[in-house]
Amino acid sequence: MYKVSEKPLISKDEIENRLESLGSEINASGEYDIVLGVLTGAFIFVADIVRRQVGNPRVAFVKASSYGNSTQSSKQVVFQGLDNLQFEGMRVLIVDDILDTGRTLSKLSEELLKRGAEDVKICVLLDKPSRREAAIEADFFGFSIENSFVVGYGLDYAEKYRALDGIFTLEAKT
Ligand code: IMP
Ligand code: MG
Repeated sequence: MYKVSEKPLISKDEIENRLESLGSEINASGEYDIVLGVLTGAFIFVADIVRRQVGNPRVAFVKASSYGNSTQSSKQVVFQGLDNLQFEGMRVLIVDDILDTGRTLSKLSEELLKRGAEDVKICVLLDKPSRREAAIEADFFGFSIENSFVVGYGLDYAEKYRALDGIFTLEAKT
């Protein structure tokens, strides 16, 4: 069994401060036609990112499934909701909670380019570089973290803890 750490790894205030500078970095890179959030983990981050962006991007979501209820990424990634969106000629900013093995986002960016997107950039709140299996980096990331399983600010463990306002680590119950 697991429990959530008492202290946050990244506090609500730290997230809020970083959002300001991250918003500026994204704005300095140009405007996007569409912000594509990856459900469910990115739902809070997307809301915070789009409110710090200039321009008037369309906001859409895709559901990526592969994770199940385990702390291990599985190898298969399936997307739902791409077929009713247009990507031809679009500058897309993908927004996700975390770049872990990188399988989800490398597959998603490949898919968008296949569908004619002009440019695909990636923004994640968290980056876990030590876990990377796919050759992919984020264009924008909030924080780089060690290899621990984290929850809160949208991220879940077995669909729980998404509403915590900071990022917490999941620890084995003793
Ligand atoms: P990847 O395809 O391995 O990069 O994993 C991407 C997805 O796995 C993320 O969008 C999350 O939904 C989930 N994930 C990876 N690491 C964590 C974690 O530490 N906490 C919660 N979800 C995670
Ligand atoms: Mg996710």
